[in-house]
Amino acid sequence: MVLTTVQGRFVPVEEASDSGRFLTGSYEPGAGRAESTEEKKTVTTAVTESKHGGTGGAVPVAARARQVVKAYGSGETRVVALDHVDVDIHKGAFTAIMGPSGSGKSTLMHCLAGLDTVSGGQIFLDETEITGLKDKKLTQLRRDRIGFIFQAFNLLPTLNALENITLPMDIAGRKPDAEWLNRVVETVGLAGRLKHRPTQLSGGQQQRVAVARALAARPEIIFGDEPTGNLDSRAGAEVLGFLRRSVDELGQTIVMVTHDPVAASYADRVLYLADGRIVDEMWNPTADQVLDRMKDFDARGRTS
Ligand SMILES: Nc1ncnc2c1ncn2[C@@H]1O[C@H](COP(=O)(O)OP(=O)(O)OP(=O)(O)O)[C@@H](O)[C@H]1O
Ligand SMILES: [Mg+2]
Repeated sequence: MVLTTVQGRFVPVEEASDSGRFLTGSYEPGAGRAESTEEKKTVTTAVTESKHGGTGGAVPVAARARQVVKAYGSGETRVVALDHVDVDIHKGAFTAIMGPSGSGKSTLMHCLAGLDTVSGGQIFLDETEITGLKDKKLTQLRRDRIGFIFQAFNLLPTLNALENITLPMDIAGRKPDAEWLNRVVETVGLAGRLKHRPTQLSGGQQQRVAVARALAARPEIIFGDEPTGNLDSRAGAEVLGFLRRSVDELGQTIVMVTHDPVAASYADRVLYLADGRIVDEMWNPTADQVLDRMKDFDARGRTS
């Protein structure tokens, strides 16, 4: 059974979907801007709306994007990577972001994680607005409240697994919570490998070290950009299984960009991006359902 949190409680995703409405339906993308002559597109805002009068919201939200625009370049070379994106990332849930190459997945993740600035709109981490924060504050916030897992594991070759896991906290001058660290190491199944250096570990094990490193500091939210993109399917399944357990057993919030329907099926929710917009979402997905939805988008010409 897939669980998520509603008002601090773990509940099945189906029940969570009942207690709040996740789709605010369609709106006209042109509203408030110059009218487009293109065929009208149905655009989804993946924002939680409370049934109970809108005070407080039914589902705790870890991060929010409001009308986020990200444009690169100017004039003829201007590329709009994110086009007025509204999204709520639910606390204690595993969210996957999918979409064709160039649709804005990495850009959205980088903006949500404060790794990149926005051209317009607002990003909130819990109640903190991160858009507009000065560099120093932003660096501090990323260090203290956000974890990252990259496609290339980014482990330091001269440090063993345990040293790699605790490195960010060592840099920040924080002492790891021993009990928590044990639990993380147990959950990732690395207890027997802590003294090994990255070159002595398999790809899957290295990525699990990177996942443990992200979890060890107990960040509010972990972002992964194709964290299993460099792994074979068995090692990928190991890491995904672990990410899933960290949500179910440790209450972690995870956002993962992926191209892989099987990887997406580990998530509670899949958000689909096309042309810098969120065009659809799916709850409690199976790999087949995700694959079907992707084919559907391709058939409608929503490819890059
Ligand atoms: N630094 C940059 N300068 C100019 N354009 C950029 C830059 N970064 C991204 N883009 C453009 O923004 C759009 C979205 O890019 P993004 O990297 O978010 O796509 P993506 O969905 O992650 O794709 P992929 O699946 O290939 O990783 C693309 O059209 C890309 O060319
Ligand atoms: Mg990308």
